[in-house]
Amino acid sequence: MARKNWKNSDGLLRVFAYGSVVSTYILIVIGGYVTTSNSGLGCGESWPLCEGAVFPSLNRPELVIELSHRLFNFVVGVFVLGTAVVAWTGYRKASNIVLLSTTSLVALIAQVMLGMVTVTTSLNPVVSDAHLALASAILAMVLIDIASAKPFKNKSPGSTKVQRFHGWQSPVLRSSSTPSSACSRILP
Ligand code: HEM
Repeated sequence: MARKNWKNSDGLLRVFAYGSVVSTYILIVIGGYVTTSNSGLGCGESWPLCEGAVFPSLNRPELVIELSHRLFNFVVGVFVLGTAVVAWTGYRKASNIVLLSTTSLVALIAQVMLGMVTVTTSLNPVVSDAHLALASAILAMVLIDIASAKPFKNKSPGSTKVQRFHGWQSPVLRSSSTPSSACSRILP
C-alpha cells in the first residue's frame, strides 16, 4: 500500500516538474513575441487589469498578445505551485527538490511583480532586461528540478523514495561504497 502511494506521488512530481519546464519555455517564447511585436503596452499601463478591465475587448492585436502573455502565467503558476506542494508534502527529506521547487515558486512570484513594474514603468529598458534575466533563471531552476526528480533507474528492493530522488549526484556513485564497485555497476 505504502509502495503504491510512493509511485503515485513520483508520477505527480514528474507531471508538475515537466509541466513547469514546458509551460515556462512557452511563456518565454510568448514574452519574446510581446517584445518583438511591440505589444508590451498592449494593455496600457494597467495591471493586473488590462486597459482597466477584467475582460477587455479584444479589438487590437497588441492587446491580445500582451493579454495572452499575462494569462499564460496562470498555467505556469499551476505547474510551479503544484511542484512545490508535492515537494513539501511528499519529499521533505529530498532537500534538493524542496529547495529548487520553493525557489522557483518565489522567483515566479517575483517575476509577476517585475512584469507589473515593466508595464507601469512604460517598458523601462532596465526593468525589461531584468524581466528577461529572471525568466531565464526560472527556466534554469525548473530544469534542474527535473534533473533532481528523475527517478533512480537501478531500483534496488530496499531503496526508498528519498534515495531514489537524491538529486545532483550520480545514482551509481551514491549507491556504491567504492569507486570500483561503482564501475562494476556500469560496465557489463
Ligand atoms: C503578470 C505577469 C507578467 C507581466 C505583466 C509581464 C509583462 C511583460 C511585458 C510588458 C513584456 C514586454 C517587455 C518589452 O516589450 O520591453 C514582457 C516580456 C517578457 N516576459 Fe513577461 N510578464 C509577466 C510574467 C512573465 C513570466 C512569469 C515570465 C517567465 C517566466 C515572463 C517572461 C517574459 C519574457 C522572456 C519576455 C521577453 C523579454 C525580452 O525579450 O526582452 N513574463 N513581459
